[in-house]
Amino acid sequence: MCGIVGYVGSQDSLGVLLGGLKRQEYRGYDSAGVAVLSNEGELVMAKKAGKLQMLMDNLTAHPLASGHTGIGHTRWATHGAPIDVNAHPHLADDGRLALIHNGIVENFYEIKAELTARGHEFVSETDTEVAAVLLADNYAETGDLRTAFARTVNRLEGAFTLLAMHANEPHLIVAARHNSPLVIGFGDGENFLGSDVAAFVEFTHRAAAVGQNQIVAITPDSVSVTTFAGEPVVPEEFDIEWDASASEKGGWPSFMAKEISENPDAVANTIRGRIHDGMVVVPEIDAFGPDFLSGVSRIILLACGTASYAGLVGSYAIEKWAGIPVDVQLSHEFRYRDPVITPSTLVISISQSGETMDTLMAVRYASERGAKTISICNTQGATIPRESDAVVYTHAGPEVAVASTKAFVAQITALYLIGLHIARVRDTVPEALLQHSAQELSDLPAKLAEVLSVGDEIRTLAKWMSDSQAVLFLGRNVGFPIALEGALKLKELAYIHAEGFAAGELKHGPIALIDHGQPVFVIVPSPRNSAEMHSKVISNIQEIRARGARVIAIAEAGDAAVLPFADEVIRIPLAGPLFEPILAVVPLQIFAMELADAKGLDVDQPRNLAKSVTVE
Ligand code: F6R
Repeated sequence: MCGIVGYVGSQDSLGVLLGGLKRQEYRGYDSAGVAVLSNEGELVMAKKAGKLQMLMDNLTAHPLASGHTGIGHTRWATHGAPIDVNAHPHLADDGRLALIHNGIVENFYEIKAELTARGHEFVSETDTEVAAVLLADNYAETGDLRTAFARTVNRLEGAFTLLAMHANEPHLIVAARHNSPLVIGFGDGENFLGSDVAAFVEFTHRAAAVGQNQIVAITPDSVSVTTFAGEPVVPEEFDIEWDASASEKGGWPSFMAKEISENPDAVANTIRGRIHDGMVVVPEIDAFGPDFLSGVSRIILLACGTASYAGLVGSYAIEKWAGIPVDVQLSHEFRYRDPVITPSTLVISISQSGETMDTLMAVRYASERGAKTISICNTQGATIPRESDAVVYTHAGPEVAVASTKAFVAQITALYLIGLHIARVRDTVPEALLQHSAQELSDLPAKLAEVLSVGDEIRTLAKWMSDSQAVLFLGRNVGFPIALEGALKLKELAYIHAEGFAAGELKHGPIALIDHGQPVFVIVPSPRNSAEMHSKVISNIQEIRARGARVIAIAEAGDAAVLPFADEVIRIPLAGPLFEPILAVVPLQIFAMELADAKGLDVDQPRNLAKSVTVE
C-alpha cells in the first residue's frame, strides 16, 4: 500500500516521479501527489484524490515549475478520507518543507496536541501532516534538515517510511524506515528512493534495501545511511534482475492477462538452478548445512490470502515427502493463539510482496521464540526475507495486477522444492520418488502452456455466466485449496459471491445452497492417481446435479467418467496427484478475469484492494 518515490539529479524530476508512481500503481492507492523543488528555489506541489491519471491531467492543465529534486506518493487512506487535502505530500514551514509517508504514526494524537498548544495549525486529518509539522518545528530549532529529521523520526511510533525535503537545502532528500519498506537506487550523478525497485528500475539496476530504523540522505552525488541513533551503516547493494519492460503490459489488454500467460515462466524460473542430476537441491537452504534441518520436528507455514492457499497445497506435499507434521496458519491469527514454538519448529512464510505486515509480524514473533525461519518471496530486498534465516525467492517476475496469479503457482513450486529438498536431506522417501517428483516439476511449464490454450472456451463460459449471483467451487485433497483460490479470485475480480468447499464437507451443510441453475466448479482428481478419490468426487457431482446445480468440471484429459454428469468439462493435461492443482488453478484464474472483463470491471486494480498490505 502506498507507493513512494524520491529523486535528486539532473533530470526533470516530475517525469521521474510520475513514472515511478505509475510503476508502483499495483501497490494499491486512492490518491496521488508530487512535490518538486523548482529551479527558482520554490517548493511546488500538486495532489489529487483518485487515479494517478487524474493527477497527470491536472498537471497538464496546470503545469508545475520544473526542478531536479522531488518526491512523489500514492496514498491508500488510513487516517482521513481519500480527498485532495489528505493526499500527500504535506507541506509545513510556510510551504518550504514537503513530506510524504507510508504507514501509520500511532502517537500522532499526542504530538498533534503538543504542536497545537504551541500554535501550529493543521489543514488535513492525517497523521502524516503531524509528522511534517513536527519536522518543521525541529527544523526551526536546528536549521539543519538532517538533524531535524533524525530528531523527528526518533519521536514517532508506529510504522513509517518518510521522505522529506526543504527549499533551503535544494539538493537533498532525507528518508527513514521503521516497519515499512524503503529502497535506494544508485545512479550516476543522480539517486533515487522508492517503496520498491519498480520506482526507479527504468534508470538504474543498482539498489539497496534500507534496514529497520535507518535514515538515508541522498544528494545527486552521495548516499549516506545511518541508524536512528546516528551510527553509520554501509548499505548492502544488489542488482535488480528484471527491467522496466517486465513491469509493462507488453501488448496484453491487462497486467492480469499478461501475468496469467507468464505462469509457465514463473514455474520454470523458480525451478531454475534448483534441480541437479535429477534431484532437487535448494542452494539457499543447503548453505546452512544439514544441521539446519536435522532437528526440525514441526513445520508451520505462515501466509495470508492467496499465499495461504499456496501454503495449504504445499502442506500436503511437504508432510508426505518430508514426513514432518505441517500446519498452515493465517499470519494475522498466528500470534494471538499463543502458538507452541520451539527451536525445532521451522516456520516457512510465503509472501509475494515480502512486505505483508501481518506475515512480517508473525515471522518476527516466531523468530523471537527461537523458530528457524525460511521466507518464500517474490520481491528482492523485501523486509520478510531480510528478517528470515533463509530465503527461497520465487522468480515469477514482477506481479503488477493486484490479485495474485503467477506468484501463486510459483509459491507452490517453491514449497515443493523445499519439501523435496528436506526429504532428500532427511532421507524420508526413496530416491526414485524424489527423481520422479523433480521430473514432474520440470514438466510443469510445458503443461501450463497447454492449459493456457483453454482461454477461448473459458471466455465463452464467463460471458454466459456474467449475471451469476453466486458461484461455488468444490475440491478434495489438494483440489480443496484450489477451490478456495478459485472462489477468492472470483470475489476479488468480479465482485461475485463465491465460496470454496472441501467436496466431502458438502453434505455437512453447504449442499443447502444448491438450487436450480447454481453454477458449481468441481476440481476432479485424476482416476489414474486415485480411483477412490475420483469416484467420491463423481458421487459429489451427482449429488449436486440431482439438486439442479450446473456443473463445470475441471478434469484431466481422457477422464470420461465426468462426461455424463458435467454440463461443461475443462480439460487439463495428465500430471501426478500433487501436481494437478498447479494446472487446475489456471482455468479458474482465466475464468475470474474473463468474467470481470465481461462485467466491464478493472481486472488489474479491483476496488478496495491493495497489492501490498503494509498495515495490520
Ligand atoms: C489475492 C492476493 C492476496 C495476497 C495476500 C498476501 O489475489 O493477492 O490474497 O495473496 O494479500 O500477499 P503477499 O503474498 O504479498 O504476502
